[in-house]
Amino acid sequence: MPDISSADVSQTVILPQSKDAMFITVTIKEGGEAAALQVITGLSGLVNGVGFRWPSAHLSAVVGIGAKLWDRLFVVEKPELLHEFIELQGAKHHAPSTPGDLFFHIRSDEFDVAFELARRINNALADAVEEVDEVHAFRFQDFRDPLGFVDGTESPRGDEGRAVALVRDGVWAGGSYIVAQKYTHDLRAWNDLPVEEQEKVIGRTKHSDIELDEDEKPSNSHVAVNSVEDEDGNGLEIVRNNLTFGSALGEQGTYFMSYARDVRVTELMLRRMFIGEPEGNYDRILDYSTAQTGVNFFAPPRAFMDNAADFARPEVKGEDGPGAATQPAIDLPRGKEVFGDRGNVPVSHNAEDVRRAREIYSLALKPGAEPGTGSGTGSGAEPGAEPGTE
Ligand code: HEM
Repeated sequence: MPDISSADVSQTVILPQSKDAMFITVTIKEGGEAAALQVITGLSGLVNGVGFRWPSAHLSAVVGIGAKLWDRLFVVEKPELLHEFIELQGAKHHAPSTPGDLFFHIRSDEFDVAFELARRINNALADAVEEVDEVHAFRFQDFRDPLGFVDGTESPRGDEGRAVALVRDGVWAGGSYIVAQKYTHDLRAWNDLPVEEQEKVIGRTKHSDIELDEDEKPSNSHVAVNSVEDEDGNGLEIVRNNLTFGSALGEQGTYFMSYARDVRVTELMLRRMFIGEPEGNYDRILDYSTAQTGVNFFAPPRAFMDNAADFARPEVKGEDGPGAATQPAIDLPRGKEVFGDRGNVPVSHNAEDVRRAREIYSLALKPGAEPGTGSGTGSGAEPGAEPGTE
């Protein structure tokens, strides 16, 4: 089994919070699949090409692939919990599900460096992009959201973060499930609330960021709603990378962006926020914050990304497919090093390689999907299933 604590296996999922970030969601036009594949396989090269010259920016980027695009790109079955964002309608609040094929989480301590990488990604995608949601987000003061509360304190970091965010075993070990939502705030209504009341909405003190005592923390406070446990009382967590966005004189919001090894944990939190547990006990933060988008993706392990062309549908990689783009500009570990006993990930595109891919990804290959037939359907997870607790 690959060691998921090794940075070589996963993308740059777990990092200290950056000063700036760009959260970019795009949909890919019919016929734009080859360009999308090229960006997936070539992303580490693009990051290196920009980041090497500005080391102080600590530039990084993670790419997530949406459920629909996955089926359009690959002969390999998608990770079992990858599906589109599940729309939620509570008694009062709504979490919409919005389109998204690729997601880029670009982090940098210097905004212009992130901006340059985003431009290069855009150039590489060329005419393949249909819709775009591009959010420029930043660390506001001491990690505060526009509501004035410190956001991220209890989010697991370092090794703990890796344990929470990265799939632990199976063919997708080192990958991570992304859920993102763009929220805008009604700051006028919020600022009309006395600070003590705001603290009851969040469940922590505003100035000093201390969690309220159990007897002072309402059950519909944001912290209480999002403190979730499995049947045995073990805490279930996700890694959050929220940042502030907006204009000083106009609308402001929080970009919620999370990584989890089991997306059902994030979905459980969302159900508790919007529907409530018991029903009706929805998260009071929603009286002041409106979800404008909702998207799910899977950030594949690095070895899969770098060799993604080997698992692409033949019509996507084409005769002169994007093989060149599978060779990243920097020396990344090859499949064999990462996948160990399960053998090497093939690096050329013939039937024998696809057969070997089938062996390596035997759990994941689409049922009945002979390469090129395009007949895979994908299974997806049961949305109502309980979160994994292993
Ligand atoms: C308007 C959007 C949001 C804002 C402004 C926001 C803000 C905050 C703040 C200020 C905290 C307390 C400090 C901390 O530990 O980070 C917090 C905690 C937390 N939030 Fe959010 N959040 C938002 C959306 C979400 C969503 C959509 C989820 C889950 C799907 C979520 C999950 C959590 C969790 C798990 C905690 C930690 C709870 C604990 O203490 O155990 N948040 N959030």
